Amino acid sequence: MNILVTGGAGFIGSHTLVELYKAGHTAVVIDNLSNSNPESLNRVERITGIHTPFYKVDIRDRQGLDSVLEQYKFDACIHFAGLKAVGESVSMPIEYYENNIGGTLVLVQALKAHGCRNIIFSSSATVYGDPAFIPITEQCPKGSCTNPYGWTKSMLEQILTDMQKADPAWNVVLLRYFNPIGAHPSGLIGENPNGIPNNLMPYVTQVAVGKRPELGVFGNDYDTPDGTGVRDYIHVVDLAAGHVAALKAIQDNCGLAIYNLGTGHGYSVLDIVNAFQRVNGVKVPYSIKPRRPGDIATCYSDPSKARKELGWQARYGIDEMCRDSWNWQKNNPNGF
Ligand code: NAD
Ligand code: UD1
Repeated sequence: MNILVTGGAGFIGSHTLVELYKAGHTAVVIDNLSNSNPESLNRVERITGIHTPFYKVDIRDRQGLDSVLEQYKFDACIHFAGLKAVGESVSMPIEYYENNIGGTLVLVQALKAHGCRNIIFSSSATVYGDPAFIPITEQCPKGSCTNPYGWTKSMLEQILTDMQKADPAWNVVLLRYFNPIGAHPSGLIGENPNGIPNNLMPYVTQVAVGKRPELGVFGNDYDTPDGTGVRDYIHVVDLAAGHVAALKAIQDNCGLAIYNLGTGHGYSVLDIVNAFQRVNGVKVPYSIKPRRPGDIATCYSDPSKARKELGWQARYGIDEMCRDSWNWQKNNPNGF
């Protein structure tokens, strides 16, 4: 299939290109480069030998979208483009709603006008809020998000659901990612956060490489085995492969389909620190800090629906995730 990948220069997008090419698909990327470096696409070419056509287009720019959509015929769009910094979304809610929701509205109208009504959307386990039950199945009711970023995902799920209901010619796949970490085993592409990382693994790797003195562990008094927060970390290469698998749902005319992409295993913050030190033979000094507002104790998936319906399941474990995160960081201490 020929795929339009929005936000394809970013962390998950670049890894997804590699998996798309491995599976024999072709792709075109649009990205406004607000949180990425086009060097990622050169690296994808080094890994795969395939050059990705790239257009610096903002998804809010209808004319820019039209000019790309006129040049190619796309079978589906994998839609990663969006802002994703939780803390920033609290201080800049309008920018987040405008970029993520406004941009997606322009995108789907442009896709439809050019005859492409197949979309795979990057959603998040954050839509479950404080989950009603664990492990989380897709049946778990959506909850109350703790920040505007999370609400953009929850609202966009609703918008795309309503769109598909009104026009059943659309196929919409909502993929709810758990916690993507790791990097391509080549060490050529990986996560490249701006400023102080919000998420655990990029913080751990920056401590390990000596950029930051220690990790703050946000709370050790949760109702979990060691008191620190438990999450379902998933290797980004597995997550990327989940998008290729989701194209099967599109080909099967799924209408609306929702899948969790996780491993089904929960690891605590200290499990991650310990695994990282053991696998990589490096020290990660840490100290216990107060809980971070909005955090929950435990969040992990039941990923069996994607296994049964898409034939997809995560292959990599926590050791590979720690190894590949470190391999990327130490080979690229300043990102791309
Ligand atoms: P990323 O920031 O690396 O990639 C997003 C890309 O979108 C960037 O390259 C950015 O420049 C681009 N972009 C942003 N706004 C745009 C716009 N208006 N027009 C065109 N391009 C635009 O983030 P990522 O980690 O690769 O995440 C990809 C998607 O997955 C995002 O939608 C994110 O919210 C979602 N997601 C990520 C995680 C995670 O932990 N990384 C978890 C759940 C969901
Ligand atoms: C966060 C976001 C979520 C988003 C996801 C992926 C919040 C409340 N949630 O999820 O909306 O979809 O990232 O981008 O921000 N931790 C530390 N020290 C750190 C960083 C994290 O102890 O420096 C702990 C956290 O308290 C948590 C775990 O590590 O228990 C994972 O945190 P993080 O990587 O930020 O992911 P989430 O909080 O699950």
